[in-house]
Amino acid sequence: SPSFIVAIDGPAASGKGTLARRLAATLGFAHLDTGALYRAVGLSLLRAGHAPEDGAAAIAAARGLDAATVLPLMNDPALRQDVVAVAASKVSVVPEVRAALLDFQRDFANHPPGGAPGTVSRGAVLDGRDVGTVVCPQAPAKLFVTADVEVRARRRLSELRNTGAEAIYDAVLEDMKVRDARDSQRAVAPLKPAVDAFLLDTSMMDADQAFIAAMDFIRSRP
Ligand code: C5P
Repeated sequence: SPSFIVAIDGPAASGKGTLARRLAATLGFAHLDTGALYRAVGLSLLRAGHAPEDGAAAIAAARGLDAATVLPLMNDPALRQDVVAVAASKVSVVPEVRAALLDFQRDFANHPPGGAPGTVSRGAVLDGRDVGTVVCPQAPAKLFVTADVEVRARRRLSELRNTGAEAIYDAVLEDMKVRDARDSQRAVAPLKPAVDAFLLDTSMMDADQAFIAAMDFIRSRP
């Protein structure tokens, strides 16, 4: 039977990553954080000494990524740095970079790996910006997770402070607005809800409430 795909999109710090991991664990599905792919491209550019605006270098880096290089990188704390997030959002405007990452994402969604090598899962949860609109428009369950930008900035601020970093609310809020604008205004695959996405505004919800609402929606899908 075909893989059951759960597509979760939304802006930075909306809670979509936490939600996606918990849904995948509960459903026994594989999980792919698609933002990590763009971060991996950004990180490899920075490490090679290229500017994140260098489109040709970004395309070469994206074409050079495969499962063997990307999957071990996924949990690398270096991917989580803000400088890498900014580089990711810059490389993600290049159409050829997006095209180069498409097959990997679709293959993961349609043939989700299982927990043990050589096994498969019955489904996949992918989170990002364009999973429901571009990567897997046929997914039976699409969610668009949002929260007010001030709420997201406060969440990101406490995440940063929890890791011991110094952070200022106004600067975090400003960064969030710049990244939102770049993600929603780009020409190719901008951040927007699929027409049939379930809208989940987590501004007034904690992680448990968001999880329950998402599970109710997924259970209602064929
Ligand atoms: O989700 P995360 O913050 O890790 O994503 C980093 C950047 O990668 C985003 O700001 C966005 O520009 C880009 N991205 C994307 N399409 C995706 C996932 C992430 O363009 N599906």
